Amino acid sequence: MRPDDIEAVVNVARVSFPDHFEDQACFENRLALYPRGCFVLADDGPAKGYLIAYPWRDASAPPLNTVIEGLPAEPTLIYLHDLALHPEARGGGVTGAIVERLADQATEDGWPAIALVAVNDAARFWSRHGFEPVEAEGMAEKLASYGDDARYMVRPLA
Ligand SMILES: CC(C)(COP(=O)(O)OP(=O)(O)OC[C@H]1O[C@@H](n2cnc3c(N)ncnc32)[C@H](O)[C@@H]1OP(=O)(O)O)[C@@H](O)C(=O)NCCC(=O)NCCS
Repeated sequence: MRPDDIEAVVNVARVSFPDHFEDQACFENRLALYPRGCFVLADDGPAKGYLIAYPWRDASAPPLNTVIEGLPAEPTLIYLHDLALHPEARGGGVTGAIVERLADQATEDGWPAIALVAVNDAARFWSRHGFEPVEAEGMAEKLASYGDDARYMVRPLA
């Protein structure tokens, strides 16, 4: 992902997460903080999908629609903030490729796990990519802004 992809990324986010809106500033913020974890699905035209991930603490998730000042001083894993495809790009089997690319990169970088908050009823989708629900203490309050169906899930890395 590059700064000039952000507009298309925000458009994909808007149709993909109608109940979890995040401002353009949040996307610019994450790209500036950790470009290594930001990817787009694109050919010559505008991006049709994106993945955003960055170092974070376990048993924790940033509140939605929040610009963060910096990455945690002592991160313990990679947090997968968003994966979304424009509806026209779905069903093409590209999600496995980008999730595995992130997992390979995170493993190489020495991270022990990737964590995420599953929304949109996507827990089953994430299970197929190696994530398991984890009941972490205090998580219910931290997930309040994510909606009732939010589940914290973790994929351990080799
Ligand atoms: C999640 C997303 C990236 C998957 O893209 P995709 O190209 O459809 O993914 P795949 O083709 O690899 O997998 C599709 C499978 O996952 C299932 N799936 C995908 N998203 C799902 C969701 N939100 N809830 C339940 N199942 C979902 C589909 O039903 C399909 O199942 P099938 O293979 O048994 O038919 C895409 O649906 C999307 O952008 N959704 C909106 C954003 C979102 O919900 N992101 C994840 C939340 S954290």
